[in-house]
Amino acid sequence: MFKLLKKAGFPLFKVTYFVAAVLILGGWTGCLWQNPNAGERKGIGYNQGYAPEQPIPFSHELHVGTHKIQCQYCHSQVERSKHSNIPSLATCMNCHQQVAVDKDNIKKLREAYAEGKTIEWQKVHLLPDHVHFNHQAHVAKGVSCQTCHGEIEKMPVVFQYADLSMGWCINCHRQPENKAPLNCTTCHH
Ligand code: HEC
Ligand code: HEC
Ligand code: HEC
Ligand code: HEC
Ligand code: HEC
Repeated sequence: MFKLLKKAGFPLFKVTYFVAAVLILGGWTGCLWQNPNAGERKGIGYNQGYAPEQPIPFSHELHVGTHKIQCQYCHSQVERSKHSNIPSLATCMNCHQQVAVDKDNIKKLREAYAEGKTIEWQKVHLLPDHVHFNHQAHVAKGVSCQTCHGEIEKMPVVFQYADLSMGWCINCHRQPENKAPLNCTTCHH
């Protein structure tokens, strides 16, 4: 951990202070090293390139690249909230009540919608529970989706573009023009 923190550029005295604080806070240390999804992933966060198979082969390349649909048309909460929502089937149906209705995957979508079911999209990005991320704060400062997610408009299947390591977050926060906070509690409780 010392190596990790030093790599991220924290002076040793701050790190020592923090480690002491963590030990005092007892119960918290447990959750720091927990990894509830250990079986499925290489480890939370460090899954650069991770691209799970989705129940319906939804393509960002087709919808965003070819048909120029804006991110916020579907991820409508991203400017307002911590999390960026995955669109509901009702959003898909705005188009797919008419568009490509003869295609098998669209038939599946329409059946699920008619039966009031949802599609179980597999999560691509996942930070550990002890880390706080907030979309609104970043989007409001004009950080583009592509800075963190790569060229989504060219992805037939979404993959994790950034490594989501602490060093990645810190390196950007540290740029003088960003004026972003660096204290531990910004991202950790
Ligand atoms: C027509 C609707 C639609 C549009 C437009 C759209 N998305 Fe998505 N997005 C989805 C759906 C559905 C999923 C879940 C399935 C998947 O991962 O492919 C998703 C998943 C994602 C994920 C992965 C989420 C996770 O599980 O971690 C990211 C990141 C993302 N979109 C970013 C974007 C960006 C950036 C844009 C604009 C450049 C965009 N999307 C435009 C519908 C859309
Ligand atoms: C500063 C980096 C950054 C920017 C900018 C950013 N994202 Fe994300 N995005 C992330 C991280 C980190 C996660 C994983 C969050 C988690 O696991 O709690 C994520 C997760 C997501 C998810 C999955 C749902 C969720 O909230 O966990 C979607 C969808 C998504 N982003 C879409 C977008 C869209 C659309 C934009 C642009 C409007 C955008 N993101 C801008 C870093 C970013
Ligand atoms: C704003 C309109 C619009 C929205 C919203 C939209 N789509 Fe599409 N979708 C299209 C268009 C246009 C095509 C291309 C149709 C074609 O090539 O005949 C398409 C094609 C598809 C295809 C490929 C069909 C095939 O087999 O050729 C799938 C799958 C799909 N969409 C799923 C979704 C899902 C899932 C959602 C919701 C998350 C969604 N779409 C939302 C417009 C939309
Ligand atoms: C590409 C640059 C960039 C990356 C990468 C980045 N951030 Fe940020 N972050 C910013 C900027 C810019 C701000 C806004 C500072 C401000 O509001 O003045 C910010 C603000 C924040 C805030 C403060 C939110 C608030 O309510 O004030 C948190 C929390 C945060 N980032 C967490 C993270 C985490 C966690 C990661 C990594 C998973 C991350 N950031 C990656 C640029 C970045
Ligand atoms: C801008 C956001 C951000 C700030 C500020 C930040 N961290 Fe982190 N931290 C993360 C992210 C993201 C992870 C998870 C990914 C990883 O382990 O690299 C993490 C992980 C950790 C871990 C767990 C490492 C492991 O091996 O599981 C520790 C311990 C930690 N941070 C301590 C600190 C300390 C101490 C500070 C202040 C000196 C700090 N963090 C400041 C984002 C941040």
